[in-house]
Amino acid sequence: MFPVKQRSDVASLRQAVQALSGRVALVPTMGNLHEGHLTLVRHARQVADAVVVSIFVNPLQFDREEDLQAYPRTLERDMALLEAEGVDLVFTPAVEAVYPESMDSHTRVEVPGLSDIFCGASRPGHFVGVATIVCKLFNMVQPHCAVFGKKDFQQLLIIRRMVRDLAMPVEIIGVDTVREADGLAMSSRNNYLDEAERARAPALYAALKRTADALRQGRRDYAALEAEATRMIAEAGLKPDYLGIRRAGDLAEPGEGDTSLVILGAAWLGLARLIDNLEVEL
Ligand code: PAF
Repeated sequence: MFPVKQRSDVASLRQAVQALSGRVALVPTMGNLHEGHLTLVRHARQVADAVVVSIFVNPLQFDREEDLQAYPRTLERDMALLEAEGVDLVFTPAVEAVYPESMDSHTRVEVPGLSDIFCGASRPGHFVGVATIVCKLFNMVQPHCAVFGKKDFQQLLIIRRMVRDLAMPVEIIGVDTVREADGLAMSSRNNYLDEAERARAPALYAALKRTADALRQGRRDYAALEAEATRMIAEAGLKPDYLGIRRAGDLAEPGEGDTSLVILGAAWLGLARLIDNLEVEL
């Protein structure tokens, strides 16, 4: 196996990308890789000739300094995992390479509306940080396509909207959430759970599933369904943040005749804020 190429500055990244041949896929990550990320990498491999992974804990998308400080950084292990996957190039810029001057005066990309609800309401500024870094990574790497997990469903929609609105020549590919055996969506933040919390964590997914079943059985009393799911999450010992049944395409309130829905949920459990979602085709 060849050692995976690692680049940390934009000039040598660009050179290394130019040396790749064919269709290039980018998998943007914040590191601390788990099976969910590796599934994105494998998907990228299937749809492209060369795979570039970026690892960058983006300070601009953290609304709480403690969360940024505590975010797990496991670069050596991540590199070994990516090497085993046969990734072509890993981009690991330092904060100074991405934001050489003050972050406060840096240009920002905002996708209004979609960014202000659910996770955006709970984490002010979060999606401006996400859209800005993803736009910047696209400009740095210039991939043909980019692969994102559907666990961050709202993030995926925001990136799709940004790419459409700004006519970015990048195909956006969403990949299904990878779950633990008990249904918990894989996430770096699951590391924050102690044993007792970990045992309660699947309650979020269980509530989404129950709601999806009820929708499939014909219920359309969305507000009541949301209240029931929220209660179920709270009874399991989690602190619900939001629970919403929305149109999958644009997160608008579903109307009569809408058949592609998504149930989105977030809840606090100890130090972890868990998020999850389930798409439902009626
Ligand atoms: O989903 C993530 O890990 C991050 O939000 C992303 C897309 C890598 C941007 O920092």
